[in-house]
Amino acid sequence: MTNGLRTFVVVVTIAPWAMPETAVVCSQASGTSVSGRGTFELYCSPCHGLTAKGDGPLAGSLRKRPPDLTSIARRHGGDFPAAAVTRIIDGRSPAKGHGGDMPVWGDAFARSSADGSGVDETIRALVRYIESVQMRPE
Ligand code: HEC
Repeated sequence: MTNGLRTFVVVVTIAPWAMPETAVVCSQASGTSVSGRGTFELYCSPCHGLTAKGDGPLAGSLRKRPPDLTSIARRHGGDFPAAAVTRIIDGRSPAKGHGGDMPVWGDAFARSSADGSGVDETIRALVRYIESVQMRPE
């Protein structure tokens, strides 16, 4: 893909879900607390895929392929590192490669509410969802 086209695709596809208001409105309308799965499908599946295996529609155009999020526990000796995953998602973790193709979600979710409340719950729900899709250790 040429650079111009790639920029176009990224801008067009990222713009709609760079607006966290949508997720907040949806979760309030359904009357439930923040849905990890819903947030994941909205913000994360374009890269990580609906099954979280790293096969979203944008995956092929990124410099670095999104990792398979269902194998995090397996890659960590069977323990799901919830705290580390939280830091990667909210952007506090100085993990190499981040700030590159993996967006910093703490800031994006914070902009969705005036006082920043709800960010932690949104991220906690996401982490719980990712934990729930971990493949079983072999
Ligand atoms: C624009 C594409 C893109 C989007 C959207 C995206 N990610 Fe990522 N994600 C990546 C890439 C690329 C990496 C690998 C970064 C690296 O290794 O430097 C990554 C890495 C991760 C990791 C670390 C995984 C591991 O195995 O160490 C987690 C956790 C993660 N993403 C969660 C999320 C969540 C949750 C969302 C939605 C809120 C999300 N990502 C949205 C591209 C994306």
